[in-house]
Amino acid sequence: MHEGQGTGVGGGGPDLSVNLAGIRLANPVLVASGTFGYGREMARWFDLRLLGGIITKGTTLAARPGNPPPRIAETPAGLLNSIGLENPGVDAVIGEEIPFLRQFGVPVIVNIAGETVEEYATVAAKLEGVEGVSGLEVNVSCPNVRAGGMVFGTDPAATAAVVKAVRAATSLPLLVKLTPNVTDIVEVARAAQEAGADALTLVNTLKGMAIDVQLRRPLLGAVTGGLSGPAIKPVALRMVWEVAGAVNLPIVGCGGIMSGRDAVEFLLAGASAVAVGSATLVNPLAAPRVVREMAAWLAEEGFAGVSEVVGMARGPGALRPGDAPGGGGPA
Ligand SMILES: Cc1cc2nc3c(=O)[nH]c(=O)nc-3n(C[C@H](O)[C@H](O)[C@H](O)COP(=O)(O)O)c2cc1C
Repeated sequence: MHEGQGTGVGGGGPDLSVNLAGIRLANPVLVASGTFGYGREMARWFDLRLLGGIITKGTTLAARPGNPPPRIAETPAGLLNSIGLENPGVDAVIGEEIPFLRQFGVPVIVNIAGETVEEYATVAAKLEGVEGVSGLEVNVSCPNVRAGGMVFGTDPAATAAVVKAVRAATSLPLLVKLTPNVTDIVEVARAAQEAGADALTLVNTLKGMAIDVQLRRPLLGAVTGGLSGPAIKPVALRMVWEVAGAVNLPIVGCGGIMSGRDAVEFLLAGASAVAVGSATLVNPLAAPRVVREMAAWLAEEGFAGVSEVVGMARGPGALRPGDAPGGGGPA
């Protein structure tokens, strides 16, 4: 099944293109790491060219089997996962997955992780110059691995060490994906900026757990997991707001985006682009729908382009109560 061509908005519609730290996106909607694999399954559902870009599954130096099952649990308000960065390893990704993805001509951002600073740098170096890779997203925020991951992202100095090492290993645009599991995200964001990040992705999952009452034990094999989906949107939005006001880098907003309206909220808060995660697991067509709904909203409200709304909720352009908005919004 294929969705309509382009953005769903005819010629003369708003300009959806975004320059994200030197990566040119046809529209600001990316798909979030780990929720889209390397695109193979999803390419059967819709034309991947409809996306602004694809952020791959977290990729490490060696192949990883991931955590013991069960690894996914639904809660009343969000999804818990403890996948544990299952992936085939960077060499297989370069040899098999990137060649598949690059046929679509959509920017591919490879999400990378490691257990040591050196491992992050080695993975980054391997991806340097690989045709079809437009950027790297450094995952210092995975709550589901024992070594590496969130351990780096909760400490500004450790975040800086990882970012510095990766920066030295690559000339690709560098997005740094932060964890919400901190007291002050601004502090970590500043450390990432000073260490050479070109953009930030906010946020990864919130650490949580569920208990199986019948079995009287934790539901997930790894005991704890990462909470995602609508439950975390207010937290993610607050963090985008805080960081956009403190750091001079483009931000990819992520966390509970299910609709075009959700995406617009992140743009208004200061994000330059967004990433759709769990919504894809609910409906494989969620990301292209977010593109369509967001484009329709911009057109209805009379905006010439995405850049006009980025950060608008922060400034004097924000409507006051009583001001008549230009039109309706997406559902
Ligand atoms: C099943 C699953 C796997 C994920 N794997 C990764 C990963 O490998 N690397 C990463 O940086 N984030 C990973 N994430 C986090 C998402 O990219 C995203 O930051 C998070 O789910 C919040 O967005 P959402 O609420 O829209 O899902 C994963 C999330 C889910 C649900």
